[in-house]
Amino acid sequence: MTRAPSAAIAGVASRVGSNTADLLRRDAASVWHPFTQHAAWPDDDPLIIAAAEGMHLTDTEGRRYVDGVSSLWVTTHGHRVPEIDDAIRDQLERLDHSTFLGLTHQPGIELAEALLDCAPPGLRRGQARVFYGGDGASAVEAALKMAFQAAAQRGEHRPRYVHVAEGYHGDTLGAVSVGGIELFHATYRPLLLETLAVSSPGVLVAGQSRRERAHEVVSELRALLDREGNEVCAVVVEPMVQAAGGMLTHDAAFLRGVRELCDRSGALMLADEVATGVGRTGRMWAVEHAGVTPDLLTCGKGLTGGYLPLSAVLAKEAVFAAFLGSPASGRTFFHGHTYTANPLCCAAALANLRLLAARDTVAHAAAVGDRLGELLAPLASYDGVREIRRIGTMTGIEVAAVGERTGFRVCRRARDHGVLVRPLGDVVVLMPPLAIGADDLTTLVGAIDAAVRDVVQ
Ligand SMILES: Cc1ncc(COP(=O)(O)O)c(C=O)c1O
Repeated sequence: MTRAPSAAIAGVASRVGSNTADLLRRDAASVWHPFTQHAAWPDDDPLIIAAAEGMHLTDTEGRRYVDGVSSLWVTTHGHRVPEIDDAIRDQLERLDHSTFLGLTHQPGIELAEALLDCAPPGLRRGQARVFYGGDGASAVEAALKMAFQAAAQRGEHRPRYVHVAEGYHGDTLGAVSVGGIELFHATYRPLLLETLAVSSPGVLVAGQSRRERAHEVVSELRALLDREGNEVCAVVVEPMVQAAGGMLTHDAAFLRGVRELCDRSGALMLADEVATGVGRTGRMWAVEHAGVTPDLLTCGKGLTGGYLPLSAVLAKEAVFAAFLGSPASGRTFFHGHTYTANPLCCAAALANLRLLAARDTVAHAAAVGDRLGELLAPLASYDGVREIRRIGTMTGIEVAAVGERTGFRVCRRARDHGVLVRPLGDVVVLMPPLAIGADDLTTLVGAIDAAVRDVVQ
């Protein structure tokens, strides 16, 4: 029997101050949280975050924590960065919002230019266009529709997508259709687009190297496209790491193979960099590790430095060209959202990209990643640790299941040691803000080490 959330919250509320208790009770009565089982949530002893500064979050009880997952993979320079705060305030003085449908504005234009200036080669100014979305999933939806419509407007009927097992691209139905995480996606199968799937290049068969696995999955894709490639408008991949799938890293040869096979079959390569983009892998874009240019690239999450929801699709000029015609031709991309390119979001993103360049933050992130690898190395020999996977700052520590919700219990213990992290099943995710300094990084790993030893060692 599960208790009603409001009854269970009473136990938690008795351990905290009256303001926290009041907020917890009101939350339990009125709020539905994402990816949250509310029958269990009150027993999980939720925190109420009241403030943030730099690499830290503070709860309503005044306890301070290192933000070990960048507030779900978004925080870049830290929280409440003066330059980004000022850029948003400045924008607020001039224009809060105006539609991007049929009108335009300076922050939207400048951000498009700035994004193209730091895009992977082949998607730079004059080679590509920027289409804005809100969350990561909305960029993916737009890119999926672009791929289909571009083919249709070139006279090709290509109604299928190829995606990768264990992939994750967001929670809207198009994005779920190209996802491959059973727990999240199986329920919705009757509603989804019919897609074609290849195996995950990050799930190794015993004894295999990542390079061997990459070649194996590329062969699988080749066979699939040889059979059905003329029906496929896009191959959708998460470059270098399938993040929500459990930080499943793969060899760059996979991406090079995908690029080659897309060129052969006429399908577009859609690289979803919502998680990996804007520096997380120690390069500005994960596709740079493989030296390939996708036809469509989606980004979001860290685009605004972790401040506001904004995403984008970078589309090669050839894709964009397929949409040109007279207004009566029906070739328009009939897609958009009310808040597309909100000026405050664009201003935050512009300030973020400027700071990234001025501070060489991506190079710093690469060094943070290397240091993370060194600090975590001893954990690899613990009995309870199955594997540590990392690229740049994106890190997954897969722990052996010891009873139920092992990953969750490790994260809960880490909290007692002053660090907030979140698991993906039994994979404990570490993804510190790109700009994290040496001391906070040491605190982060120290807390995780202690928590892993407490729970699984
Ligand atoms: C690769 C990838 N694509 C898309 C998304 C969806 O982004 P959002 O949650 O902002 O919709 C995510 C979220 O984790 C992601 O990791």
